Amino acid sequence: MPTSFNQLTLIACVTGAAQGIGLATAERLARDGMQVLAMDFSAERLHKSVQALQAKGLAVMAAEVDVCDRSSVLKALFILPRIDVMVCAAGIYNDAALLDLTEEAFRRMLEVNVIGTFIPAQEAARRMKPGGRIVTISSRGALGGTRFAHYVASKAAVIGLTRAMAMELRPLQIAVNSVAPGFTDTPMTRSAPKEMFEAWEELEPSGKAATPDQIAHSIAFLASPETSFITGQTLFVDGGKSLGGLSI
Ligand code: NAI
Repeated sequence: MPTSFNQLTLIACVTGAAQGIGLATAERLARDGMQVLAMDFSAERLHKSVQALQAKGLAVMAAEVDVCDRSSVLKALFILPRIDVMVCAAGIYNDAALLDLTEEAFRRMLEVNVIGTFIPAQEAARRMKPGGRIVTISSRGALGGTRFAHYVASKAAVIGLTRAMAMELRPLQIAVNSVAPGFTDTPMTRSAPKEMFEAWEELEPSGKAATPDQIAHSIAFLASPETSFITGQTLFVDGGKSLGGLSI
């Protein structure tokens, strides 16, 4: 199991890597040959997940990080000899009808999903060389939806942030893109009552939720050196649901 990373192999950081899409991404990137720093604030779950990846022979290390707290992000990145890829997958979701939505819930959503994307992305960009790649995680929800206006707003903001970062980092040859998953089978969506999960799943074009691996595959595509000419884009990975369903 690695206790440090070498200079010679690409190094990727993944936030929200204790479970779900972040964990699947950490595994995918490590299988693609990168050294991966898995970052999450859920310490116990993070260490368990990272140990499981290490047991598979993958070069993954854990760092306890709150993505909203710059000092904890800095502490984690300090141990790295270089950063080639940053994937900002940490995020939260909860629902509330618009008329009941509180400012507190709204502010917390923006804090984690937007500021918690901005801080690790900015700190990574400060350390990246030309060829660096940042992948943010938006959501199909950015297009709109009912009972989660604060989540919709946060994920639309991630798309705007991604485009703005891509423009400013273009002269430094750092690519910034976003993956916008549709409904995906993760602990986040499984925390809903079973009937609700099944009802949501039925609304998908395929009648199935995406697997975290399907999302991780697209993230890995945008994180790979071969795709570094793509920048400022948002890739919807949702089985076609974002196309709408109005045609006959
Ligand atoms: P999840 O809840 O299963 O995993 C999220 C991880 O982020 C958890 O391990 C959690 O501890 C970590 N996290 C949360 N706040 C953090 C903080 N302040 N600092 C560090 N880590 C923190 O969620 P899931 O489903 O894997 O989602 C990952 C990303 O994908 C999120 O940004 C989510 O909004 C987005 N997404 C998920 C979809 C889904 O259907 N599951 C659909 C569209 C987007």
